[in-house]
Amino acid sequence: MTQYDELAARLADIEKAIHFYRETVEFPSFFDALGKARGMRVLDVGCGDGVYARKVARQGAAQVVGTDSSAEMIRLAEAAEAEEPLGIRYLVHDLAAMPSLGAFDVVVAVNVLHYADDRGALESMCRQLASQLAPGGRLLAYVGNTECDAEAAKDFGFLVDRPADAHEGDAFTVTIPATPPATVEVRYWPAASLQQALESAGFARVDWEPMAHTAGDDPRAAGLDRLLKNPPGLLLSAYLD
Ligand SMILES: C[S@@+](CC[C@H](N)C(=O)[O-])C[C@H]1O[C@@H](n2cnc3c(N)ncnc32)[C@H](O)[C@@H]1O
Repeated sequence: MTQYDELAARLADIEKAIHFYRETVEFPSFFDALGKARGMRVLDVGCGDGVYARKVARQGAAQVVGTDSSAEMIRLAEAAEAEEPLGIRYLVHDLAAMPSLGAFDVVVAVNVLHYADDRGALESMCRQLASQLAPGGRLLAYVGNTECDAEAAKDFGFLVDRPADAHEGDAFTVTIPATPPATVEVRYWPAASLQQALESAGFARVDWEPMAHTAGDDPRAAGLDRLLKNPPGLLLSAYLD
Protein backbone atom coordinates (compact mmCIF):
# COMPACT_ATOMS: atom_id res chain seq x y z
CA MET A 1 0.00 0.00 0.00
CA THR A 2 1.57 3.32 -1.06
CA GLN A 3 0.71 6.75 0.40
CA TYR A 4 -1.06 7.47 -2.88
CA ASP A 5 -3.29 4.38 -2.64
CA GLU A 6 -4.92 6.05 0.37
CA LEU A 7 -5.26 9.43 -1.35
CA ALA A 8 -6.72 8.05 -4.59
CA ALA A 9 -10.28 7.82 -3.23
CA ARG A 10 -10.39 11.58 -2.65
CA LEU A 11 -8.19 12.71 -5.50
CA ALA A 12 -10.93 14.89 -7.01
CA ASP A 13 -11.14 16.99 -3.80
CA ILE A 14 -7.36 17.23 -3.56
CA GLU A 15 -7.11 18.35 -7.19
CA LYS A 16 -9.75 21.02 -6.53
CA ALA A 17 -7.50 22.54 -3.83
CA ILE A 18 -4.59 22.96 -6.28
CA HIS A 19 -6.68 23.57 -9.39
CA PHE A 20 -5.60 27.21 -9.76
CA TYR A 21 -1.86 26.40 -9.72
CA ARG A 22 -2.22 23.38 -11.99
CA GLU A 23 -4.37 25.17 -14.56
CA THR A 24 -2.65 28.56 -14.66
CA VAL A 25 0.99 27.58 -14.11
CA GLU A 26 1.83 23.88 -14.13
CA PHE A 27 0.01 22.69 -17.25
CA PRO A 28 0.76 25.77 -19.44
CA SER A 29 4.49 25.75 -18.53
CA PHE A 30 4.71 22.03 -19.27
CA PHE A 31 2.98 22.22 -22.64
CA ASP A 32 4.96 25.33 -23.68
CA ALA A 33 8.14 23.36 -23.00
CA LEU A 34 6.90 20.15 -24.62
CA GLY A 35 5.88 21.75 -27.92
CA LYS A 36 3.96 19.52 -30.30
CA ALA A 37 3.04 16.09 -28.96
CA ARG A 38 1.59 14.90 -32.28
CA GLY A 39 3.18 11.64 -33.42
CA MET A 40 5.32 11.23 -30.29
CA ARG A 41 5.76 8.10 -28.22
CA VAL A 42 5.27 9.22 -24.63
CA LEU A 43 5.80 7.42 -21.33
CA ASP A 44 4.29 9.14 -18.26
CA VAL A 45 6.00 7.77 -15.15
CA GLY A 46 4.22 8.36 -11.83
CA CYS A 47 1.20 9.22 -13.96
CA GLY A 48 -1.28 9.25 -11.06
CA ASP A 49 -4.79 9.27 -12.49
CA GLY A 50 -3.32 9.96 -15.95
CA VAL A 51 -4.02 13.68 -16.29
CA TYR A 52 -0.84 14.36 -18.31
CA ALA A 53 -1.14 11.10 -20.28
CA ARG A 54 -4.63 12.12 -21.40
CA LYS A 55 -3.52 15.62 -22.36
CA VAL A 56 -0.69 14.35 -24.60
CA ALA A 57 -2.93 11.64 -26.08
CA ARG A 58 -5.58 14.26 -26.95
CA GLN A 59 -2.86 16.26 -28.72
CA GLY A 60 -2.26 13.33 -31.08
CA ALA A 61 0.67 11.46 -29.50
CA ALA A 62 1.24 8.21 -31.42
CA GLN A 63 1.65 6.05 -28.32
CA VAL A 64 1.03 6.85 -24.65
CA VAL A 65 1.86 4.61 -21.71
CA GLY A 66 1.31 5.60 -18.07
CA THR A 67 2.90 3.89 -15.08
CA ASP A 68 2.52 4.39 -11.34
CA SER A 69 3.50 2.46 -8.22
CA SER A 70 -0.01 2.97 -6.82
CA ALA A 71 -2.50 0.38 -8.04
CA GLU A 72 -5.33 2.67 -6.90
CA MET A 73 -4.06 5.55 -9.02
CA ILE A 74 -3.81 3.24 -12.03
CA ARG A 75 -7.36 2.08 -11.33
CA LEU A 76 -8.52 5.74 -11.58
CA ALA A 77 -6.54 6.19 -14.81
CA GLU A 78 -8.08 3.06 -16.31
CA ALA A 79 -11.57 4.23 -15.31
CA ALA A 80 -10.92 7.52 -17.13
CA GLU A 81 -9.67 5.57 -20.16
CA ALA A 82 -12.85 3.45 -20.11
CA GLU A 83 -14.94 6.63 -20.06
CA GLU A 84 -12.94 8.41 -22.78
CA PRO A 85 -10.97 5.84 -24.81
CA LEU A 86 -7.72 7.45 -25.98
CA GLY A 87 -5.69 4.28 -26.49
CA ILE A 88 -3.51 4.85 -23.40
CA ARG A 89 -2.01 1.77 -21.74
CA TYR A 90 -1.63 1.96 -17.95
CA LEU A 91 0.62 -0.29 -15.88
CA VAL A 92 1.47 -0.60 -12.19
CA HIS A 93 5.24 -0.28 -11.84
CA ASP A 94 7.55 1.19 -9.26
CA LEU A 95 10.07 3.40 -11.02
CA ALA A 96 12.81 1.67 -9.03
CA ALA A 97 12.14 -1.65 -10.77
CA MET A 98 10.53 -1.00 -14.11
CA PRO A 99 11.10 -3.27 -17.10
CA SER A 100 11.90 -1.68 -20.44
CA LEU A 101 8.55 -0.57 -21.86
CA GLY A 102 9.83 0.61 -25.23
CA ALA A 103 11.80 3.42 -26.79
CA PHE A 104 10.01 6.69 -26.08
CA ASP A 105 10.56 10.14 -27.58
CA VAL A 106 9.49 11.77 -24.34
CA VAL A 107 9.44 10.43 -20.80
CA VAL A 108 7.31 12.56 -18.48
CA ALA A 109 7.90 12.49 -14.71
CA VAL A 110 5.72 15.03 -12.91
CA ASN A 111 6.59 15.31 -9.22
CA VAL A 112 8.00 11.81 -8.85
CA LEU A 113 11.75 12.19 -8.26
CA HIS A 114 11.18 13.72 -4.82
CA TYR A 115 10.08 10.29 -3.58
CA ALA A 116 13.65 8.94 -3.87
CA ASP A 117 14.78 7.98 -0.33
CA ASP A 118 18.48 8.48 -0.84
CA ARG A 119 21.09 9.39 -3.41
CA GLY A 120 21.39 5.78 -4.64
CA ALA A 121 17.62 5.54 -5.18
CA LEU A 122 17.58 8.93 -6.93
CA GLU A 123 20.34 7.90 -9.34
CA SER A 124 18.69 4.57 -10.00
CA MET A 125 15.37 6.35 -10.79
CA CYS A 126 17.23 8.65 -13.19
CA ARG A 127 18.91 5.63 -14.87
CA GLN A 128 15.49 3.98 -15.25
CA LEU A 129 14.08 7.13 -16.88
CA ALA A 130 17.07 7.30 -19.25
CA SER A 131 16.72 3.63 -20.19
CA GLN A 132 13.17 4.16 -21.49
CA LEU A 133 14.22 6.84 -24.00
CA ALA A 134 14.87 6.38 -27.70
CA PRO A 135 18.13 7.92 -29.00
CA GLY A 136 17.66 11.70 -29.04
CA GLY A 137 14.77 11.40 -26.57
CA ARG A 138 13.93 13.82 -23.82
CA LEU A 139 12.94 13.58 -20.17
CA LEU A 140 10.49 16.33 -19.13
CA ALA A 141 10.13 16.43 -15.36
CA TYR A 142 8.67 18.62 -12.66
CA VAL A 143 10.69 18.54 -9.47
CA GLY A 144 10.16 20.27 -6.13
CA ASN A 145 11.90 23.66 -5.79
CA THR A 146 13.78 23.59 -2.48
CA GLU A 147 14.42 27.34 -2.81
CA CYS A 148 10.69 28.04 -2.53
CA ASP A 149 10.10 28.74 1.16
CA ALA A 150 6.97 27.82 3.09
CA GLU A 151 5.43 31.31 2.76
CA ALA A 152 5.86 31.36 -1.02
CA ALA A 153 4.56 27.80 -1.39
CA LYS A 154 1.45 28.75 0.62
CA ASP A 155 0.59 31.39 -1.98
CA PHE A 156 0.19 28.52 -4.45
CA GLY A 157 -1.84 26.37 -2.04
CA PHE A 158 0.90 24.05 -0.74
CA LEU A 159 1.66 23.86 2.99
CA VAL A 160 5.31 22.86 3.28
CA ASP A 161 6.68 21.65 6.62
CA ARG A 162 10.44 21.42 6.12
CA PRO A 163 13.28 21.93 8.62
CA ALA A 164 15.23 25.15 7.97
CA ASP A 165 18.51 23.18 7.88
CA ALA A 166 17.29 20.33 5.61
CA HIS A 167 19.96 18.25 3.91
CA GLU A 168 19.91 16.24 0.71
CA GLY A 169 17.48 13.31 1.02
CA ASP A 170 15.81 14.52 4.26
CA ALA A 171 12.09 13.75 4.55
CA PHE A 172 9.53 16.53 5.00
CA THR A 173 5.82 16.91 4.37
CA VAL A 174 3.67 18.82 1.91
CA THR A 175 0.01 19.25 2.78
CA ILE A 176 -2.72 20.18 0.35
CA PRO A 177 -5.52 21.95 2.21
CA ALA A 178 -8.39 19.77 1.02
CA THR A 179 -11.04 18.62 3.52
CA PRO A 180 -9.56 16.75 5.31
CA PRO A 181 -6.05 17.95 4.46
CA ALA A 182 -3.93 15.57 2.36
CA THR A 183 -0.34 15.17 3.50
CA VAL A 184 2.44 13.45 1.57
CA GLU A 185 6.00 12.79 2.66
CA VAL A 186 8.61 13.85 0.13
CA ARG A 187 12.40 14.27 0.15
CA TYR A 188 14.68 17.27 -0.06
CA TRP A 189 16.50 17.23 -3.39
CA PRO A 190 17.99 20.60 -4.39
CA ALA A 191 18.23 21.37 -8.12
CA ALA A 192 22.03 20.87 -8.11
CA SER A 193 21.67 17.34 -6.61
CA LEU A 194 19.00 16.45 -9.16
CA GLN A 195 21.15 17.70 -12.00
CA GLN A 196 24.15 15.68 -10.74
CA ALA A 197 22.00 12.54 -10.40
CA LEU A 198 20.68 12.98 -13.95
CA GLU A 199 24.20 13.48 -15.27
CA SER A 200 25.51 10.40 -13.47
CA ALA A 201 22.60 8.46 -15.00
CA GLY A 202 23.86 9.35 -18.48
CA PHE A 203 21.94 12.52 -19.33
CA ALA A 204 24.32 14.77 -21.24
CA ARG A 205 22.37 18.01 -20.87
CA VAL A 206 19.85 19.39 -18.39
CA ASP A 207 17.90 22.56 -19.22
CA TRP A 208 15.80 24.34 -16.61
CA GLU A 209 12.68 25.46 -18.43
CA PRO A 210 11.00 28.86 -17.98
CA MET A 211 7.76 28.89 -16.02
CA ALA A 212 4.81 30.57 -17.67
CA HIS A 213 1.26 31.31 -16.65
CA THR A 214 -2.02 32.02 -18.30
CA ALA A 215 -3.42 35.31 -17.06
CA GLY A 216 -7.14 34.65 -17.22
CA ASP A 217 -9.66 36.77 -15.33
CA ASP A 218 -8.89 35.28 -11.93
CA PRO A 219 -7.72 38.11 -9.62
CA ARG A 220 -5.09 35.75 -8.19
CA ALA A 221 -3.32 35.77 -11.58
CA ALA A 222 -2.21 39.39 -10.92
CA GLY A 223 0.55 38.33 -8.48
CA LEU A 224 1.80 35.39 -10.50
CA ASP A 225 4.68 37.16 -12.24
CA ARG A 226 6.18 37.96 -8.84
CA LEU A 227 5.42 34.52 -7.38
CA LEU A 228 6.88 32.71 -10.35
CA LYS A 229 10.33 34.12 -9.64
CA ASN A 230 10.43 31.34 -7.04
CA PRO A 231 7.80 28.73 -7.94
CA PRO A 232 7.03 25.61 -5.85
CA GLY A 233 8.05 23.35 -8.72
CA LEU A 234 10.79 23.53 -11.34
CA LEU A 235 10.52 22.09 -14.82
CA LEU A 236 13.52 20.44 -16.44
CA SER A 237 14.33 18.85 -19.76
CA ALA A 238 17.13 16.28 -19.82
CA TYR A 239 18.66 14.88 -23.00
CA LEU A 240 20.81 11.80 -23.47
CA ASP A 241 22.99 13.47 -26.10
C1 LIG B 1 2.38 14.16 -6.95
S1 LIG B 1 1.68 12.73 -7.71
C2 LIG B 1 1.68 13.23 -9.41
C3 LIG B 1 0.78 12.40 -10.29
C4 LIG B 1 0.74 12.87 -11.75
N1 LIG B 1 2.06 12.91 -12.33
C5 LIG B 1 0.08 14.23 -11.84
O1 LIG B 1 0.76 15.22 -12.09
O2 LIG B 1 -1.15 14.29 -11.61
C6 LIG B 1 3.03 11.59 -7.65
C7 LIG B 1 2.72 10.23 -8.24
O3 LIG B 1 3.93 9.47 -8.26
C8 LIG B 1 3.65 8.15 -7.86
N2 LIG B 1 4.89 7.58 -7.33
C9 LIG B 1 5.53 7.88 -6.18
N3 LIG B 1 6.65 7.15 -6.06
C10 LIG B 1 6.72 6.38 -7.19
C11 LIG B 1 7.64 5.41 -7.65
N4 LIG B 1 8.72 5.07 -6.94
N5 LIG B 1 7.39 4.78 -8.82
C12 LIG B 1 6.29 5.11 -9.56
N6 LIG B 1 5.38 6.03 -9.16
C13 LIG B 1 5.60 6.65 -7.99
C14 LIG B 1 2.53 8.29 -6.83
O4 LIG B 1 1.82 7.08 -6.66
C15 LIG B 1 1.71 9.42 -7.43
O5 LIG B 1 0.68 8.95 -8.25
